[in-house]
Amino acid sequence: MTTYFIDGQFTSKDSLNISIDDRGYYFGDGVYEVVKVYDGELYTAEEHFGRLFQSAAKIKMAIPYSEQQLIDIAKELIKVNEVQTGHIYMQVTRGASARVHQFPAAAVTPVVTAYAIHNPRPLSNIEGGVSVKSVDDVRWLRCDIKSLNLLANVLAKQEAFEAGCAEAIFVRDGVVMEGSSSNAFGVKDGVVITHPATNLILNGITRQVVLRLCKENGIPVEERAFTPEEMYGMDEFFITSTTSEITPVVLIDEKAVGAGMPGAVTRRLQEAFARQIPLSVAGE
Ligand code: PDD
Repeated sequence: MTTYFIDGQFTSKDSLNISIDDRGYYFGDGVYEVVKVYDGELYTAEEHFGRLFQSAAKIKMAIPYSEQQLIDIAKELIKVNEVQTGHIYMQVTRGASARVHQFPAAAVTPVVTAYAIHNPRPLSNIEGGVSVKSVDDVRWLRCDIKSLNLLANVLAKQEAFEAGCAEAIFVRDGVVMEGSSSNAFGVKDGVVITHPATNLILNGITRQVVLRLCKENGIPVEERAFTPEEMYGMDEFFITSTTSEITPVVLIDEKAVGAGMPGAVTRRLQEAFARQIPLSVAGE
């Protein structure tokens, strides 16, 4: 039976004690992280839990645990649930309190919920690539916060799915931002191009890993705005996230990207990525 963590307790799903008054339900008033587990170990844990605290601070919420305590909870969940390849989901809401919009009384403490789940690497997408659809970015102006409020992302992903695509690519004011649950990169003449980490995108941990891998492998990078027209003309395109790693994009709005198959720079980055995750899963 899966063991969950909620509000200070490790427990089974049947005994989960979740309040109807949790502000996560009422307002999406909280933040979250998805952390990859390779070979039973957390990958880039400090970066993810560091961002969780940054997101919480940006919504003026104090997490009632230290970063190390949250990492220890995640490790315990991995252990008791015997997860080898998968991920940790952890969310923190502003707590349970009768429904009023303003913050609850100081005595109401944020609620941490987490679980570990088995989830294999999406190797067929990583190998063959996926199709994406561009959609209007109707999100708010604080996309740098990993907030539980994901309605615009949900609607965008659904629109993409209905069009037979794996991901939606947000376009705001004629600029390509990111995916509904991923960051977006183009490659033109050997240069990797991605939107800068402003308030309009989430600065993905995988995005940061890719930028580091580019540096280590002598691949030039431009963090700058680019238009949908420029996107259609890219030699290569790929999306990144904790669960999808580096996934090539072969079709954008039904138009082939470059030769219509994963490109050489994307492959180099995928290989470099695989080299720095635990060896026993790299070839999985
Ligand atoms: N999503 N941009 C958005 C809007 C995201 O939701 C995500 C991640 C990313 C990539 O971030 P990272 O590399 O840190 O995973 C970018 C997670 C995986 C999710 O909601 O499931």
